[in-house]
Order: sequence, then C-alpha cells, then structure tokens
Amino acid sequence: MRILILGGTRFLGRALAQLAVAQGHDVTCAARGVSGTAPAEARFVPVDRDDPDGLAPLAREGFDAVVDVTRQVSHARHALAALANQVGHWSFVSTVSVYADNTTPGQNAADAPVLAPAPPDVDGPVGADNRWYGECKVSIERLVRERMGEDRSFICRAGLIVGAEDPSDRFPYWVRRLSPGGEVLAPGRPTDRVQFVDVADLAGWLLHAAGTRLTGTYDGSGPALSRAELLAGVAAGLGVADPLLTWVDQDFLLARDVREWSGERALPLWVRLPEWGGLMDRDVRPALDAGLAVRPLSDTVRATATWMAAQPAAVRQGGLDPADEAALLGEWHAVQDG
Ligand SMILES: NC(=O)c1ccc[n+]([C@@H]2O[C@H](COP(=O)([O-])OP(=O)(O)OC[C@H]3O[C@@H](n4cnc5c(N)ncnc54)[C@H](OP(=O)(O)O)[C@@H]3O)[C@@H](O)[C@H]2O)c1
Repeated sequence: MRILILGGTRFLGRALAQLAVAQGHDVTCAARGVSGTAPAEARFVPVDRDDPDGLAPLAREGFDAVVDVTRQVSHARHALAALANQVGHWSFVSTVSVYADNTTPGQNAADAPVLAPAPPDVDGPVGADNRWYGECKVSIERLVRERMGEDRSFICRAGLIVGAEDPSDRFPYWVRRLSPGGEVLAPGRPTDRVQFVDVADLAGWLLHAAGTRLTGTYDGSGPALSRAELLAGVAAGLGVADPLLTWVDQDFLLARDVREWSGERALPLWVRLPEWGGLMDRDVRPALDAGLAVRPLSDTVRATATWMAAQPAAVRQGGLDPADEAALLGEWHAVQDG
C-alpha cells in the first residue's frame, strides 16, 4: 500500500509510520520536521501546512491511503483540496473531545451527540487549555466526509493514547510512580473507570482500516477498566507485586487543590465524577468488532517504561511531586485516624 501520513514526526504519526514500514508499505511522511523526525526508513517530504499551497509537492502523486492527524481546520481543508482526487481512502484521527456529553457512561460513536463545529474565525485550538480543540475536530470530520464521501472516509475518535514516546505526563506518571514501590496515593475509588488505547494498537488499527477500506466513524480506544485494575496492571507490568495503594476521596483531593487529568499538581487520568463519568467509559465494542486489537496492559507498561529509561530527557515531568503526595497522604491518614 502507498500510504501518506500527514504528520509522522511524533507519537502516533511516528508509530504509524514505523509500523507501516515494518509491514512493508511504501510510506511517505509530510510535516515540517519541527516536532521531531519521521522514521529513517520512511520517505520524508518537508511541507508547511500553514501555507495553503504547502502540499503542492505531493498533489500529483497518487496514494492508496492518507492518514491525517491535524487539529487545524485550514490544514485539513487545504490537504483535501490538494489530494482528495488522487487518494483511495482517508483516515482522520479525531478525538473523544468532540463529544458534547462527558457525563453519561456507555455512549457509542454511532449516536452520541457531538459539539457544534468551530466558528469560522477559529482555525485551531487556542491557549493552554486547548479551547476549541473538540470543535475544530468536529469541523475537520465534516470536511473529510464531505470531500471524500462516506465511502472513502474513516473517522477515528481516539481516546487517551498511551505508550512509547508519549509526549504527555499522563500514563508516564503512573509508570514512574509505581515503579519504586512504597505507599501510592490512588485517587477516587478503585471502581472508577479508566480508558485508553496503546499507540501501537491504534497505529495497527489505522493500517488495518486503510488496508481493508474501513469506513465510518468509531471511537479509537480500548475497553474501559477499573482504576484498581489499571494501577495493579501497571505495577504488575513493572514487576512490582502488591502495590500499596491508599485510595483517597476525590472531595478531599479537590479541596486541597490537587488537579485532574494532567499537568502540575495533577493526578493523571483522574477526573471528577460524576461530571466526567463518560469520558473514559465509552462503548468501544464497534471498534473491537471492526478490527481494533488490544494488547495486554503489561505490554503497554513495558514499552512505556523501556522508552522512559532510554530517553529520560524526552519524558515530560508532571503530576503530583513526591513531597506533595507524602503530605497529602499524611493528612489523609490523620483525618481517617482522627
Ligand atoms: N495524545 C492523546 O492522548 C490524544 C487523545 C485523543 C486524540 N488525539 C489525537 O491523536 C493525534 C495524535 O497525533 P500525533 O501524536 O501524531 O501528532 P500531533 O501531536 O497531533 O502532531 C501534529 C503533527 O502534525 C505536524 N504539523 C504540525 N503543524 C504542521 C504544519 N504547519 N505543517 C506541516 N505539519 C505540521 C507535526 O509535525 P511537525 O511539527 O514536525 O511539522 C506533527 O507530526 C492527534 O490528531 C490528536 O488530536 C491524541
């Protein structure tokens, strides 16, 4: 298969390019080369998609499949204008951030309501809080369906992506935190749901989709599991038996300015409930039925840990620092004992 990856210089796009090369495909990555590098075995075409004609060098080439990871509406519009006529199948990597309802568990991509598209003067996410991210992805999904038609387009709404080369501090926090053992602050309840997808599994599914001309709109995520299963699974993958988890009530954490999801003073992958109860508890049966294969958690943990050990400078530091965690645990025990 002749495949064009619009991106390919970091995380998912790079993993996709690596896997596509390994499977024997003819792989082109088109990006600026600012975020990183494409795999050496892939052909790299430097392009700047901020330039409306930036993809002109590729416009006369035919591709069996394109995979685009963009967040910028204009990037998608220009790419479709330049390439759609010469492409057999177009995959767009969207996000579960397109959904309007983050509260209700068990929703399905087929009928869950999405946000309104981005206003005309908004082209991409803005600011540290990524304002308009979901709306821009909704706009791009529409452009792809309009230009490629339902019979040539695959919309993959990725959930949290984890694994080697993860540029975020989310999954790597738990790998770092659980590896030395000792008492670990576990947020919320053991039964709270978490959901994610291994970057290599997602890459594999995107290639499967391109190869089989899969069309339609799906969530790209693995099945939800409990937070207890997640933390025990991460520990097991690291070879840590019986991690000492202390479950701390969400209201206690919120009252002490412990933050959700990612970033400074955050407990990654933790979101307040019930407000965010739908974010990591989506019904992904359709994706599994359509070829998404999910590897064991221990494989994801080992791939992440191996990468973290090999490239420590690339690992984003974030989350609760050890002194804050110890202070919070001390206070929690005092409250429980008192
Ligand atoms: N990470 C998650 O947990 C998560 C969750 C849900 C959905 N997603 C979605 O999953 C995808 C992740 O994709 P990813 O990890 O491959 O990459 P990414 O973080 O979205 O990177 C964007 C890619 O586009 C390229 N690019 C950016 N500006 C460009 C420009 N002006 N001209 C040409 N190329 C440009 C970048 O390369 P250069 O900078 O080198 O040009 C890079 O390869 C995204 O679509 C994201 O929205 C992610």
